Amino acid sequence: MEKTVICPGSFDPVTYGHIDIITRASKLFDKVIVGVFINVDKNPSFSIEERIGFLKKTVGHLKNVEVVGFDGLLVDCAEQHGATAVVRGLRAVSDFEYEFQMALTNRKLSPTLDTVFLASDAQYTYLSSSIVKNVASLGGDISNFVPEIIHDEIFNRLNKT
Ligand code: PNS
Repeated sequence: MEKTVICPGSFDPVTYGHIDIITRASKLFDKVIVGVFINVDKNPSFSIEERIGFLKKTVGHLKNVEVVGFDGLLVDCAEQHGATAVVRGLRAVSDFEYEFQMALTNRKLSPTLDTVFLASDAQYTYLSSSIVKNVASLGGDISNFVPEIIHDEIFNRLNKT
């Protein structure tokens, strides 16, 4: 049976760290749905459409990856796309508490939906979308954080200097 998983996130914006996890998932599973969600605890800098656009440009070459936007619960999106597991990246122990809470919440909402954690590449353990936004807003170099193809669009939007 084909194994479909969902890689959810805010992706505001996508970074090399996210791309590393999506690429790893695409090698492990038959199909990967990259779900762009609203995180009620965060105030996004980019619209869902823009975030989807960045992802399509950066992971669109992976044949078994599909990028979707979803304005609702992760468990509902997973069911709609036939995903049987959620894939999340872990950068460091500090990620664990938040990730474990989300995994157990999702399991309460949908008992058959499991969560799989993939260890991020060591070179990206410091990296986050917030870091990208912080550095770019002050005119700093983000070329090590996001791919060239989306760099200018992100930098020009965020740079406040
Ligand atoms: O990249 P993020 O912001 O850490 O991702 C968090 C995200 C978007 C995966 C999480 O907030 C989410 O699943 N949002 C959708 C709404 C939902 O299902 N909430 C209940 C589970 S916490």
